[in-house]
Amino acid sequence: MPNLLFLCITITICLSTFDTNFLVQSLTSPSDIEALKAFKASIKPSSITPWSCVASWNFTIDPCSHPRRTYFLCGFTCTTDSTHINQITLDPASYSGSLTPLISKLTQLITLDLSDNNFFGSIPSSISSLSNLKTLTLRSNSFSGPIPPSIISLKSLESLDLSHNSLTGSLPNSLNSLINLHRIDLSFNKLAGSIPKLPPNLLELAIKANSLSGPLQKTTFEGSNQLEVVELSENALTGTIETWFLLLSSLQQVNLANNSFTGIQISKPARGVESNLVALNLGFNRIQGYAPANLAAYPLLSFLSIRHNSLRGNIPLEYGQIKSMKRLFLDGNFFDGKPPPALLAAGATVSGSLGDNCLQVCPVSSQMCAPAQKPSSVCKRGYRGRT
Ligand SMILES: *[C@@H]1O[C@H](CO)[C@@H](O)[C@H](O)[C@H]1NC(C)=O
Ligand SMILES: *[C@@H]1O[C@H](CO)[C@@H](O)[C@H](O)[C@H]1NC(C)=O
Repeated sequence: MPNLLFLCITITICLSTFDTNFLVQSLTSPSDIEALKAFKASIKPSSITPWSCVASWNFTIDPCSHPRRTYFLCGFTCTTDSTHINQITLDPASYSGSLTPLISKLTQLITLDLSDNNFFGSIPSSISSLSNLKTLTLRSNSFSGPIPPSIISLKSLESLDLSHNSLTGSLPNSLNSLINLHRIDLSFNKLAGSIPKLPPNLLELAIKANSLSGPLQKTTFEGSNQLEVVELSENALTGTIETWFLLLSSLQQVNLANNSFTGIQISKPARGVESNLVALNLGFNRIQGYAPANLAAYPLLSFLSIRHNSLRGNIPLEYGQIKSMKRLFLDGNFFDGKPPPALLAAGATVSGSLGDNCLQVCPVSSQMCAPAQKPSSVCKRGYRGRT
């Protein structure tokens, strides 16, 4: 009997040892391991600090093995069957290096997030092989060169954030073929040219602080019926903002400040069409002519800035009657005459400024009237004096 028991224990141990070895060998696919090794190898060793995620990537064990007690502690996740890497979400640890083209071998990748590090060089065009990728976030690094045109092959992409880098060139054509894309943030780069036709299901477009030029084109926005946020401030956009633009049915927040627009046309939303516009910033442009009274027909508008343009004439009485209005900035223009009394009334709920205009009446007792009106000599020279 004692001998038999001994035999059983031995067999159990043998079996479980065999079992573990077998599992280890069948874990992460070799090409995923190769890609992850290459990913680490293209980060400068000197930038991998001891307690960072990547420092724990020691390939003497399998990356997807469990539990992870010593190595591969963080920075990525594996599929539930432990065969593939499905997310790389790096810690912000000042990693410096390039993004290896072999990233394309991680075919099951759903998220690639390298934000807040010091990756540099170009975004490899092989990235287009990541057909399952939903989230690409390279925010706040030092990537340069163009956005690879092949990016339009990322058919699963839902969110693209390449903001705060040094990307140059123009936006890829055929961006509209990315039908799952909801959010684009390319702000704070050096992108130039015009905006191509947008993806049909886009909710948020942010390309603040680049070098975009030319007018807003109807073809860009055609079919973008879900677009809620347009943030294009601090570019070099020109021309007239035409009536179709604010009539885009889902628009909620629009920031076109600090461009070189010269005109604006605004019509009332069509009867029966709800406008969701809440905030409109057109400040610091070169818009001439009269203030568009039709803005008062946007029932949810609560923030309006047309400050620092070259507008003249009376401030439309309607501006005093926008019930939803909370903050109104009309300062730095050439408005004259008397402002709408409702804006200056005691107990008015609107804050903002009517200052730095040519208004005849604007009592300093009203917080809306700071800063002071322009000197009459400037007003006499008129808005034409301003270029
Ligand atoms: C990886 O792990 C092995 C085995 O524990 C160890 O000998 C080696 O020094 C480790 N390598 C690194 C780069 O930490
Ligand atoms: C526009 O430029 C002005 C003056 O430089 C600045 O104060 C303001 O914050 C800018 N606004 C936006 C939305 O970029």
